[in-house]
Amino acid sequence: MSARSRKLVVGNWKMNGVRASAETLLPEIVTATREAPSDLAICVPFQLLETASRLLLNTQISLGAQDVSDQERGAYTGQVSATMLHDFGCRFVIVGHSERRTLLEESDRLVARKARAALSHGLIPILCVGETLGERESGETEDVIRRQLDALLDLIGPEDIRRCVVAYEPVWAIGTGRTATPDQAQSIHAAIRERIALVSASAASEMRILYGGSVGPATAKALFGQSDIDGALVGGASLVAQDLAAIARAGV
Ligand code: PGA
Repeated sequence: MSARSRKLVVGNWKMNGVRASAETLLPEIVTATREAPSDLAICVPFQLLETASRLLLNTQISLGAQDVSDQERGAYTGQVSATMLHDFGCRFVIVGHSERRTLLEESDRLVARKARAALSHGLIPILCVGETLGERESGETEDVIRRQLDALLDLIGPEDIRRCVVAYEPVWAIGTGRTATPDQAQSIHAAIRERIALVSASAASEMRILYGGSVGPATAKALFGQSDIDGALVGGASLVAQDLAAIARAGV
């Protein structure tokens, strides 16, 4: 059965939470999402990996991280390698989130190398792509996304592409309460799938493409109704167990 037959809902906690709050919130999320018809993952900040790996063990929720080094080991102060994430039982890792591209000036090539490092250790990279408001208004959306995607397609082969998840997150929709309309999101998702199909038609048809940017209980259902939207990357609402559960329940 193709992975796309179930939605994938990934929480991105960003820089939120300490061990005590995670000890409360994670079990709440596990309970609230138990019957949900979606696949689920939570990407926690690094310092919560130990706590989360313990609390999510043998649950329906996979563990993820929010970044990974493109390097294997050595003199890279402050970085965390794919081997280290694998050691905690991570299944997913977000790469190229717009907050890192913008605030830390991460380039398309660096982001692609991070995805490759994740893949080489059996992790599933969630490659974030998306345009700023200025880029959308000047009609550059598809060019920006193609550039971000091509950096990855240039670096890895079709078999590895198949193992990636792409998240379309318009920068203007992140944390703003302003979601892309289902039609706006669908048209970009279809363009992403077409681009990947140039490299591998089967990878394109199997891959999950998530939407992210102010997804909440009120907007998930209509987004998930679009044929190329295979789930969501959820920031703010993933910090509220009932909201994340409502999004995961929309994935029928
Ligand atoms: P948001 O964040 O749901 O709070 O908009 C999404 C993201 O940045 O991944």
